[in-house]
Amino acid sequence: MATRESIKEFPSAENGEKDEEDEKWIAHYSSNHQILLVGEGDFSFSLSLANAFASASNICATSLDSYDVLKRKYKNAASNLENLGKLRATLLYVVNVSTMKFHTELANRKFDRIIFNFPHAGFYGKEDNLDMIKMHKQLVQRFFWSAKRMLRVNGEIHVNHKTSYPYCLWNLEGLATASFLALIQR
Ligand SMILES: C[S@@+](CC[C@H](N)C(=O)[O-])C[C@H]1O[C@@H](n2cnc3c(N)ncnc32)[C@H](O)[C@@H]1O
Repeated sequence: MATRESIKEFPSAENGEKDEEDEKWIAHYSSNHQILLVGEGDFSFSLSLANAFASASNICATSLDSYDVLKRKYKNAASNLENLGKLRATLLYVVNVSTMKFHTELANRKFDRIIFNFPHAGFYGKEDNLDMIKMHKQLVQRFFWSAKRMLRVNGEIHVNHKTSYPYCLWNLEGLATASFLALIQR
C-alpha cells in the first residue's frame, strides 16, 4: 500500500493564485501549477502527468542519475525523456535533493508542487535494517528542508510512500514537522 502525503509550508499564506480560463486539473495538479519532480526513475510519472496536461511547459522533472546512467538502467528512459522534451518539459539530471536549491537552473525558481515519489536512499541492506532506515530518513529530511525553501505561497510537497512495515518506521510526518511543514492530507 502506498500513501501520498501532502505537506504544506506552515503557516500557510493567503491564496494568491490566478485563475486562468484554460486551467486543467489532473488529480492534485493544475496546469497552472509550476511542478517540480525530483528523484525520478524512468520519468514515467512525469510523462503521464505531461500527457494528461497535453503539455509539460509547467513541469520540471529531475533525476539524481545522469542521462547516460538513466539510459542504461531503464529501458524506457530515453523514449520517456524524448517525449517529455517534445512536450516542452524542463529536464535536469544529477539533481540531488539535498542541494537542489543551489542548482543553477533551480536557484531562482519557486514551485506550487514539489513531488518525490517513493524516496529511497539505495539498496545497501535489508529494508528493516535500522542503519538503512536512518539513511532513508536522512534523505527525506534533507529533501523537506530544501523543498520548503523552493515553494511558492500555498505550495505543497507531495511524497508517495509505502505505509506498511518497515516503511512506517520512517515517520514522514515527524520529519516534516521538524522542517516546520504541516501535514494537510494523507
Ligand atoms: C525507489 S526509487 C523511485 C524512483 C521514482 N521516483 C519512482 O517513483 O519510480 C528512489 C529514487 O530516489 C532517488 N534518489 C536517491 N537519493 C537521492 C538524492 N539524494 N537526490 C535525488 N534523488 C535521489 C534515486 O535516484 C531513485 O530514482
